[in-house]
Amino acid sequence: MSDEHHNIPVITIDGPGGSGKGTVAMRLAERLGWHFLDSGALYRLVAVAAIDRGISPKEEEALGVLASSLDVNFGISGDGMVILLDGNYITGRLRSEEVSVFSSKIATFSLVRSALVKRQRAFRKAPGLVADGRDMGTVIFPDAVLKVFLTANAEARAKRRYKQLKEKGESVNLSRLFREIKKRDERDSSRAIAPLKPADDAHVIDSTDLSIDEVLQIIHKLLDESDVSL
Ligand code: DC
Repeated sequence: MSDEHHNIPVITIDGPGGSGKGTVAMRLAERLGWHFLDSGALYRLVAVAAIDRGISPKEEEALGVLASSLDVNFGISGDGMVILLDGNYITGRLRSEEVSVFSSKIATFSLVRSALVKRQRAFRKAPGLVADGRDMGTVIFPDAVLKVFLTANAEARAKRRYKQLKEKGESVNLSRLFREIKKRDERDSSRAIAPLKPADDAHVIDSTDLSIDEVLQIIHKLLDESDVSL
């Protein structure tokens, strides 16, 4: 990576699913006028492509090849971000439970993770980038100017996810979601490569009892206190 690239500031927001990191990262990027990377969407895209091609979540090699050859395009439409895979709109499928579970399984493979490193770093463009994920501050952008690790207890996260899925018209069961979230936490945190954990220099924020706006206020305060020039 060139030195010039390193001058482009990155803010990382890592944490478990349902902590609010996606919404927080997107709003922060909007407010700052920076680019936004939803790295989980890349893992989810590999999952959708694998499901469509009949590749099982155990075939590391085939999944690695798939991850490095994905034909993906991100765009903005009137009501938010749209994602095209092989030229087809698949935005709506990305957040389903099937894809959540599949993506968490394949994210344990080093071939899949390494295939996505370059794609993620390519989002670092002027004037800056807000990146959301699990290993943004630890592995992908270790030189980020501000690192946040956003968490919340599993019950609060299951309730938020329940509300989201309900609003989208999916039939969901709260206790099943709670169990799935616990399983996913376990898998994401215990994997050997790039496990879900705060970077040593991350600011940990517990959002269990906080609104998105309150989390954003804390992050803006952290930015004010740091010497990041915006
Ligand atoms: O953030 P998300 O729920 O959309 O992510 C989906 C899965 O992708 C998650 O279970 C773990 C994996 N993931 C990852 O391993 N590393 C990232 N930086 C982002 C997501």
